[in-house]
Amino acid sequence: MTTESNQQPAVFKGLLQETGSAFAAPADQRLFASMRQAGIDWPVSCRNGTCRTCIGQLLEGQVAYDIPWPGLSLEEKRDGYCLPCIARPLGDLVIQRA
Ligand code: FES
Repeated sequence: MTTESNQQPAVFKGLLQETGSAFAAPADQRLFASMRQAGIDWPVSCRNGTCRTCIGQLLEGQVAYDIPWPGLSLEEKRDGYCLPCIARPLGDLVIQRA
């Protein structure tokens, strides 16, 4: 049995603080991909949450991760740091380079 859904994933608003560049941030897409699609040049390397090349800081908003222990400490998470290569948005957000 198959099920079909007409529901589209939510698309949130992203903003890069330094430049004021806006980007669409679909709930089912990693932030790094969303920024790249908008032409934002964001550093990336491993794309699996271990090297921290892509680290950024959320000034507003929250993200979720597909892996249980992304390469961030609890303190970094608390302070809004995130790894866009593996982070999916949970709502509108404002991010800056760390
Ligand atoms: S690119 Fe390596 S942690 Fe994001």
